[in-house]
Amino acid sequence: MSKHIAIGVDIGGTGIKAAPVNLKTGKFTEDRYRIPTPQPATPESVGKTVAKCIARFEPSRKTPIGVAFPGVIQHGVVKTAANVDDSWIGTDLRQVIRDYAGHDVHVLNDADAAGYGEFLYGAAHKRDGSVFLATLGTGVGTAMIVDGTLVPNLELGHLEIDGHDAEDYAAESARDRHDLDWDGWIPHLQRYFTEIERLLWPDLIIVGGGISKSSHMFLPRLTLRAPIIPAELLNGAGIVGAAAAAHAADKREKERAKEQAKRDEKAAKKSGKKS
Ligand code: BGC
Repeated sequence: MSKHIAIGVDIGGTGIKAAPVNLKTGKFTEDRYRIPTPQPATPESVGKTVAKCIARFEPSRKTPIGVAFPGVIQHGVVKTAANVDDSWIGTDLRQVIRDYAGHDVHVLNDADAAGYGEFLYGAAHKRDGSVFLATLGTGVGTAMIVDGTLVPNLELGHLEIDGHDAEDYAAESARDRHDLDWDGWIPHLQRYFTEIERLLWPDLIIVGGGISKSSHMFLPRLTLRAPIIPAELLNGAGIVGAAAAAHAADKREKERAKEQAKRDEKAAKKSGKKS
């Protein structure tokens, strides 16, 4: 696999999707591969499915692989699991994937991956200022990128609004759950994004997730201070962002190792002079 390609995997509530991504363009180099999320979505069943998705593209040892997960991830470990099996909480996601896929991976929150993808290649292309992204799907994922730096694990889909968890009404899944048509759902979105603006004052708001392909049905009907626009990478943002984040993490790791080697060499010379 070429030096400019990384693999991205996006674990969702209904499907696990993967594709190799050209890091120069942010485009898939092969068709996306999707397997329905196994139920129950336990670490074992999801780990095996992710391994299958990765194997499909036959990565080399050096190919960076990023995996996006629908929960808070700190240092590779899953901390919350609002829309997947509770047994994930406390699980080392990086280790689980390494065990099943036999490959090191970089792991991150799915909305963070989507935000990073949109920042590098999509609707917020390398834009300064503060960009807020919300993915409306099974849950509501949120990401904030300030002058190019991602603030991880924002979790503002769980803001309490009018006594409810915001995602109960603002997620795409809420439309079915509460049997809402566009007219019934849009006021919930308005309420949600107004609250986001009141608290964060973003310069730009991007809406992603499955619903972003129907954005013309609701974005023009929202009244907000900041421009609110659809994601450009649509549902592929998580895959692209995960792949790019894995590549960036590998690069940082290599630079750190190089610096360390330089320090070690200097220290060895110094102690050689003394003796
Ligand atoms: C989770 C987030 C996730 C979002 C979208 C929420 O329920 O708490 O971590 O990003 O769903 O999957």
